Amino acid sequence: MSREKIIVTGALPYANGPIHFGHIAGAYLPADIYARYKRAAGSDVIFICGSDEHGVAITFAAEKEGVPYQEYVDRWHEEHKKFFKNLNIEFDYFGRTSLPEHHKLSQQFFTDLLNNGFIKAKETTQHYCSKHRFLADRYLSGTCPYCGKIGARGDECPSCGRWLNATDLSAVKCALCGSTTELKETRHWFLQLQALSPKLKEWLESKSDWREGVKKFALSMIEEGLKERAITRDLSWGVPVPLGDAKGKVLYVWFDAPIGYISITQEWADTTGKPGLCNDYWQDKGCKLIHFMGKDNIPFHAIVWPAMIMGQKQPYILPANVVGNEFFHLEGRKFSKSEGWYIDTDLFFKKFDVNSLRYYLSRVLPETSDSSFYWREFQKLHNTELADIYGNFVNRLLTFIQKYFDGIVPAPKKLQKIDEELIRGIGEVFESLTNQLESFEIRDGVSSMMDIARIGNKYFNDSAPWATKKDDPDRCAATLHTSMQLLYLLAIATYPFMPSIAETVWKMARFSGDVKDAKWSVALPTFIKHKIEEPRVLFKKIEDSQIEEELGKLPSSK
Ligand code: 2FM
Ligand code: ZN
Repeated sequence: MSREKIIVTGALPYANGPIHFGHIAGAYLPADIYARYKRAAGSDVIFICGSDEHGVAITFAAEKEGVPYQEYVDRWHEEHKKFFKNLNIEFDYFGRTSLPEHHKLSQQFFTDLLNNGFIKAKETTQHYCSKHRFLADRYLSGTCPYCGKIGARGDECPSCGRWLNATDLSAVKCALCGSTTELKETRHWFLQLQALSPKLKEWLESKSDWREGVKKFALSMIEEGLKERAITRDLSWGVPVPLGDAKGKVLYVWFDAPIGYISITQEWADTTGKPGLCNDYWQDKGCKLIHFMGKDNIPFHAIVWPAMIMGQKQPYILPANVVGNEFFHLEGRKFSKSEGWYIDTDLFFKKFDVNSLRYYLSRVLPETSDSSFYWREFQKLHNTELADIYGNFVNRLLTFIQKYFDGIVPAPKKLQKIDEELIRGIGEVFESLTNQLESFEIRDGVSSMMDIARIGNKYFNDSAPWATKKDDPDRCAATLHTSMQLLYLLAIATYPFMPSIAETVWKMARFSGDVKDAKWSVALPTFIKHKIEEPRVLFKKIEDSQIEEELGKLPSSK
């Protein structure tokens, strides 16, 4: 049987500033965990991401800094690549949308949709700032018609996550200079979402394994009635609209960005020397396309992007799942660099272990409701779970074998009920973990992983090898050998969440091969004359003073 093919994507980050923990928890970490797990479980996975380099999110930020657009996105593209490396997020390819391949494919989508009648031109009124130009998206700031909050943009509301048309806003101002805007005539092209609404509805309703929140959100937008949506902008930066009468107009960034998932896969395929590989995934009906993203990206992935795929001509696959998360905050409040309410990620990695971060974020992911990074909780989970349970188990087991058996795992003659029960028990937990990851319940999954270490600690205590070592050596051997088997399974279970810790454990225990190639399976090896390496401590406790120092950097706790 051929292997299950999967395309995993993380929402393409705007190349316009640092990625914060909210983005990591919303998209990249769960996607990375899922991709690593699926690969270990035998699927043929490609994990695709890249820089979203168009749109006013870019032009706005570059203009503020007085840097040319291309130079600006080049810088952030490199920064993001480095950042993901620090975080052990391992894409098969991290591409970018300013490349010609991407422009070509985006124009192809536009032309197909236009020819199929799903894009129509219209004379329209647009907000215009007399000091600047035609304004859209982030260049506009107004009041959201849905939640009433000020600061809604021309295309979406950052407070409630709804997507908007600029004409829906009230009290509109130019975000650059604060002037009140006027409305002026201009020609734009509109995606006829309403025409695809019945097909979208049927497709969404068939999705029985989606997160309820995501499905409901998307269906409620359809219930409220989809409207045509402007997908061109008056800007000099972006994918030019491929029509003679569209001079000075580019495609709206949210039109071209998701096409990046395909064009970046094409970039990846080109680098492998097999350009046909891209369509081997994207046009294979059996391939599963899984998108991971934060809350504000849900409408585009669950409605606009599928509509675009449905309306064009190529047999591209539709998303099998849109794994949308809720919002992730810092100490209960929205991350905001300008207000100082943020964590400097460079400094973070200088002081704390990336594994502690990956573990903590996995434990508190905003899967079904908003959640937060809390410094004290981060310290607590690191100290009481990673250090006291996980690290403690690994260390006491390996140190014991090193000290009393010269590092050679003793071979047992006979197992007892307690050993057999342990093996059965961890097999069950491993199975739960597998089911949880299959259904994108990463939070529960990471707890199951920790349960394996917890069970190991209890077993080690209950079996008291320090006592049996003298009076019942065979019992002692059974305890150590069975614990090593548990450690083997624990390392495999750890790999998606904390890949470098799994590698360290694997190396210290001298398990054969590489943990990243180990099969996701409950099958346990037998150790004969197996020699381990000198163990070392995995997690040092985080001191209160370290946390106080970090909290002291946040404005309101000074
Ligand atoms: O919200 C964002 O950061 C967008 N750049 C996400 C784009 S996802 C995709 F469609 F490319
Ligand atoms: Zn709103």
